[in-house]
Amino acid sequence: MSGDKDLILQAINAALQSKKLYPPGHPSIAAPAKRSFQLVSTALITRRKLPIGIVDDSLVFEDIPIHDGENRYEDLYQVMKTNLVESIIIEKGVKEIELSNVLELLSNDEVLTGSEMKSELQKLRVKHITIKVPEEKRGMIEIYNGALDVVKDVMGDIRMGKIPDSTAVSDMVEEMEKKVLSDTNAMVGLTMIKNYDDYLYTHSVNVSIISMALGRHMKLPKDQLRALGVGSLLHDVGKTGVSEDIIKKPGGLSAEEFEKIKEHPVFGGKITSRMKEIDKAVVHIVSEHHVKYDHSGYPNLDGEIHPLSHIVSIADTYDALTTLRVYQNPRQPVDAIKIIKDLIGKHFAPEPANAFIDMVGFFPIGTLIRLSNNEIGVVIGITLGKNERPEVRILYDGEGTRLGNDKIVNLIDEQHSKVNVIGSVDPLSKGLDIGEIMKKNVIEVEEEQEKKSA
Ligand SMILES: [Fe+2]
Ligand SMILES: [Fe+2]
Repeated sequence: MSGDKDLILQAINAALQSKKLYPPGHPSIAAPAKRSFQLVSTALITRRKLPIGIVDDSLVFEDIPIHDGENRYEDLYQVMKTNLVESIIIEKGVKEIELSNVLELLSNDEVLTGSEMKSELQKLRVKHITIKVPEEKRGMIEIYNGALDVVKDVMGDIRMGKIPDSTAVSDMVEEMEKKVLSDTNAMVGLTMIKNYDDYLYTHSVNVSIISMALGRHMKLPKDQLRALGVGSLLHDVGKTGVSEDIIKKPGGLSAEEFEKIKEHPVFGGKITSRMKEIDKAVVHIVSEHHVKYDHSGYPNLDGEIHPLSHIVSIADTYDALTTLRVYQNPRQPVDAIKIIKDLIGKHFAPEPANAFIDMVGFFPIGTLIRLSNNEIGVVIGITLGKNERPEVRILYDGEGTRLGNDKIVNLIDEQHSKVNVIGSVDPLSKGLDIGEIMKKNVIEVEEEQEKKSA
């Protein structure tokens, strides 16, 4: 190991050690902190950044493991370990106060999650040091709400004339993607949340979940799945250019207003193309989500439609059809699927549309159904290949009485082999909010998982 690395680690270690030994403000604390800063800034004359990390229980400096048999950097190591710090990255331009604030932050043994750490560093005005800690494990509803916030922030930035930052979006999509891959049914169930006032945001999140679930079903590679998630979450950001009155207007739009609406894919495409570190496929998705398979729709597109745009177009239509609008009663998922099916080869590309129909089954998640024993419940799960025998959350018994506690029945189980699905029931006729029921379902699914892992 080169000498300056050794000196830097020694100085930082000494600084952390002194914080443990002496009370705040003691002169013995200031000296090693100052020395650390001097060494770091000298090293940064010829480098862009200095990353210190922990990999497999050993310290790593600039990707080189430090074999610290004598435990010379024990304080640094322990501080990183107890605070679950994966790495500390010091960048060129770092100021003395930033380094000393970070040393202070690290020495009070409070374990912070990823977002807490980010906001703490922001509060301390630390711009040239990044501390990586694991993201908190959020539940599905928190993730859903987090995604809503991300879309709100992005649209807020655009309204203020700023180009949104892509990091928050891709971090969010990564988190959503994990859940969509591990708990597909429960996540898809959450897309039954339809909020009229926040339509644009819930719609964006729903389309993103449905798109990723479809991408997973089509076995897309990871990089495409990520671009699909980001593109679908951002697909309607161009609507910030259209006034709220037009978006929420009850009844038909005038020709002029419709022309205005039709601008949103192109406007959204322009915005996303200016975002840093954005996959080109994302720009395609945003610009092309209203171009139909037969190239009707808008805008006019001379070239080919990107394959991922076809997927988002299906998810977008499905979510819009199943949502209550002032000018439209929500369609039952079953009916929305019929509509999509009839338009295969015209509006929708055959491959993703057939995959979608295969994925959602006869009675998609979120459908209120009546069983042959006259019970009524909501579909909460589907076993692939056994679409006609879903998992159902029973809400009403055979006499039509609302159950005090919902009952979960999986029709693929032997004991229910005599029970069949008769057809769908309109939730409005029962005064039910399916979104609320799916939220409750997710909470129970997670409680169950926690019990199992405990
Ligand atoms: Fe759109
Ligand atoms: Fe949309």
